[in-house]
Amino acid sequence: MYLDLQQTGTQVAGKVDTIGHTWQVKGPVTGTHFELYFGARETKPRVTGDIQGSELHLVRDEAHFVAVPAQSSEDYPKPERLPIPALHDVPSNGLAKTPPMGWNSWNLFQEHIDDMTVREMADAMVTSGMRDAGYVYVNIDDTWEGVRDADGNLGSNKKFPDMKALADYVHSKGLKFGIYSSPGPRTCAEYPGSYGHEQQDAKTFAAWGIDYLKYDWCGARMIYNNDALQAVYQKMGEALLKSGRPIVYSLCEYGNDHVETWGAEVGGNLWRTTGDISDTWSSVIANIEKQAPAAPYARPGHWNDPDMLEIGNGHMTDNEYRTHMTLWAVTAAPLLAGNDIRSMRPAIKEILMNREVIAIDQDSLGKQATPTKSGTIETWIKPLADGSMAVAIVNMAEVEATTGIKGSDLGLDNKMTAVRDLWAHTDVPFPGGVYSAKIPPHGALLLRVRTKN
Ligand code: GLA
Repeated sequence: MYLDLQQTGTQVAGKVDTIGHTWQVKGPVTGTHFELYFGARETKPRVTGDIQGSELHLVRDEAHFVAVPAQSSEDYPKPERLPIPALHDVPSNGLAKTPPMGWNSWNLFQEHIDDMTVREMADAMVTSGMRDAGYVYVNIDDTWEGVRDADGNLGSNKKFPDMKALADYVHSKGLKFGIYSSPGPRTCAEYPGSYGHEQQDAKTFAAWGIDYLKYDWCGARMIYNNDALQAVYQKMGEALLKSGRPIVYSLCEYGNDHVETWGAEVGGNLWRTTGDISDTWSSVIANIEKQAPAAPYARPGHWNDPDMLEIGNGHMTDNEYRTHMTLWAVTAAPLLAGNDIRSMRPAIKEILMNREVIAIDQDSLGKQATPTKSGTIETWIKPLADGSMAVAIVNMAEVEATTGIKGSDLGLDNKMTAVRDLWAHTDVPFPGGVYSAKIPPHGALLLRVRTKN
């Protein structure tokens, strides 16, 4: 860290440079003690410190640091840009024939995730029925990383005392285990990334028994421009292939540089099409709108990812969560729950574990639906492997809507043989080729329409 701080009365303000990020910070000073808040929304200081002569004695995440005066700005280490490999197609790893399903720690826990919580989640995946519904990956996101040893091997931090043992535990439950890193020297949360250690880290992950890697651009931004994205992701894609273990490769670079057009070539199984989701209706809709244009690139082994699920995190209505699940299913999105699966209300369980809806997401044809809009109604149609169609109808309005489907609008004059409502788990009548229903505000219908040839 490089600190550039100024005290004015009982306040200190300035900037903190870390590898990959500059933070504008401020906080109170009491005598020789000070606190630094790294953002307006933080409720507790990220760093506390004491002025001792010409040194600052700092505490961050219970780790102690001493800051000494810099002689010049050159004291601040700027990692060199490593040469990037020439582009070529990375062979497919043959994984993720259907969109990956599981759980990820970030949406709910952020940095407050540890070994015990992950074990409890693995237990809950089994006891809640999530595993048997198809959710098999248990993925730790950012903040597990520790320090590198003298040989450059990355270790986990004290929240994760033994990654191999944790992987064994997760595997013993019939689940798979995922982890997170960055092509930069630092991750988004400022922990060590895989920069310059790509092959070494891939080997470490394989030795621990990792089955899934989310690789997050973030700290790579200070070193590379977007024109290096493809080569940098290719480097880890190849490293994973050479690691000797099948590892699902998840690209997280927020949809930059049309990742959907090259994600498969660098070895990716899935790639984020969006920025970070939050537990709000507007975020769900914004993300699904960014997901939509990438539809032609979704196919078995290679998926567009509008980010992890917020279902059950408490800030949307159950109708909105049902719509969230519906839209992720018709767009063949990865289904990575982001809630506390140890304590789910029955309604949340029903949404996440609706097998008829999951079957739409996991359909082997691997097509992603595209939307058509009519006022505040959106209709998404996804062709399925058995020749039937999934039809999602979303009410974007804040009032109830009466709407439905007409066989003629689907190009199915007189051809519909059955229409099933997948949230109601019932076949519905469609007199004269028309099915109509009421949809609550921000609600969705999800229908499976069967046809005769
Ligand atoms: C980025 C990613 C998130 C999460 C955090 C972790 O913001 O997009 O999904 O992984 O980093 O720091």
